Amino acid sequence: MGQSMTAPPVLSLRDVRKSFGPVEVLHGVDLDLRAGEVLALIGENGAGKSTTMKILGGYQPASAGRILLDGQEVTFGSQHDGETAGIVMIHQEFNLAEQLTVEQNIFLGRELHRGWLLDKTRMRQLSREYLDRVNCDVDPDELVSRLSNSDKQMVEIAKALSRDARVLIMDEPTAVLTGEETRVLFDQVRALKAAGTAILFTSHKLGEVSEIADRVAILRDGALVRDVAAYEITEDGMATAMVGRDVSDLFPAKPDTAPGEILLRVEGLRVPGEAEDIGFDLHRGEILGIAGLIGSGRTEAMEGLCGLRAASATRIEIGGAEVNIRKPSDARDHGLCYLTEDRKLRGLLLGMGMRVNLTLQALDRFGGVLVDRSAEERALDDAIREFDIRAGGRDMKVGNLSGGNQQKLLLAKVMQTEPSILIVDEPTRGIDIGTKQQIYAYLRRLAAEGLGIVMISSEMQEVIGLSDRVLVMRAGRVAGMLSGDEINEDAIVRRAMGVGAKHSEKVA
Ligand SMILES: Nc1ncnc2c1ncn2[C@@H]1O[C@H](COP(=O)(O)OP(=O)(O)O)[C@@H](O)[C@H]1O
Ligand SMILES: [Mg+2]
Repeated sequence: MGQSMTAPPVLSLRDVRKSFGPVEVLHGVDLDLRAGEVLALIGENGAGKSTTMKILGGYQPASAGRILLDGQEVTFGSQHDGETAGIVMIHQEFNLAEQLTVEQNIFLGRELHRGWLLDKTRMRQLSREYLDRVNCDVDPDELVSRLSNSDKQMVEIAKALSRDARVLIMDEPTAVLTGEETRVLFDQVRALKAAGTAILFTSHKLGEVSEIADRVAILRDGALVRDVAAYEITEDGMATAMVGRDVSDLFPAKPDTAPGEILLRVEGLRVPGEAEDIGFDLHRGEILGIAGLIGSGRTEAMEGLCGLRAASATRIEIGGAEVNIRKPSDARDHGLCYLTEDRKLRGLLLGMGMRVNLTLQALDRFGGVLVDRSAEERALDDAIREFDIRAGGRDMKVGNLSGGNQQKLLLAKVMQTEPSILIVDEPTRGIDIGTKQQIYAYLRRLAAEGLGIVMISSEMQEVIGLSDRVLVMRAGRVAGMLSGDEINEDAIVRRAMGVGAKHSEKVA
């Protein structure tokens, strides 16, 4: 470590500022990337991490300040200039051509030739090699559009490896990866580091940051608040510096009062091929967690319940009366609302502004066809205040909001329909710790106000910290219902994986 700390920086930012229109989002950032060093850039959603990285990679020009490459000032006119200088960037939103194959993407713009012809054999061989290095067994002939998000990320990484970068910049590379895939990626990061690559990455998972980073730089509201050796800072210290307040109380206290009457009763819910014989009750004032492995049918079951995919049920009751939900509007009419895990694809209109997105599902409340603009503007004011939505301006396109702020807007949007039952799917995926704390507090407040809440989550701490009861699913079926002291990691994992429960535990 002592050696890399004294090595001269490969790539540096000096007093870099960035404005979008009248709004300055980076206020004079200084950063040094050194050969053989892993630098983690962390901060809340919207702090300016992606913007900083795009400036370093030549994807966006700075508004002021200097970029130094090997100590010499450079101007990057485009990503091409960055790549020529040996800087490779993996974006938060993937940058692959969806309609091309894996192999075509890896060699895009640098196709290998033999004479006049493409050297297909060599490209195939190399593609396989790079994919193997990241343990990715996708077919090089497969269309990228057909890959899962984690395979897309692995292809991005394979593509970056193929470029022999001097500087590798990765924007939230592990957000869509499983623990095992993350381990494989980190092995590659260690190998690149040993070979002298300068590496910059961001992650909201502070455990990963302590594991792999040599140095940690912390951005808050567009300014660098700390830049220290990793051993000088704890995960708590990172969280506090990022948020600017103590976040050790991540979860609100669980109520000790008994839950209210049954709001929702589900019997024999079936989603063909995905979920079978799902049954549970949801009480007023309760947060019911749904845990299970990826592919256990949690999302599919809840989508079936809400009319978002074909499903049948023995009986569904809402507020004591039997209901028949065939389509999403039926669910809404019964006060049942579903917040998608896929906020980019199905939750928001990214090209539109916040006002339009906010009121879209509840237009009848705003005058129907002849929309009452000023009522909408007031609703947006309220939402910005209540949810602490931080945007560059009211007219900003929703696609330019950071992930945490998109999620808050989505929550505000579904609340416009005044549901009595709210189903949230991975409500804090990819979101920083300060915003998580706000979302947890908000969900708990809604429950206290009398809603019933179902929360699907793959994050164990979140399921344990927030749920009053936990329904565990495995292979499309209910594998257990836990409450009180039974809600612990061991009990959840056993049921999710189908290994025998300890004798001391009662099986629900
Ligand atoms: N193209 C854009 N137009 C307007 N504002 C933007 C644009 N891109 C980012 N921003 C704003 O700049 C700030 C920093 O964003 P970003 O760098 O994406 O943050 P992070 O990656 O830390 O979540 C945010 O307030 C974001 O809304
Ligand atoms: Mg970002």
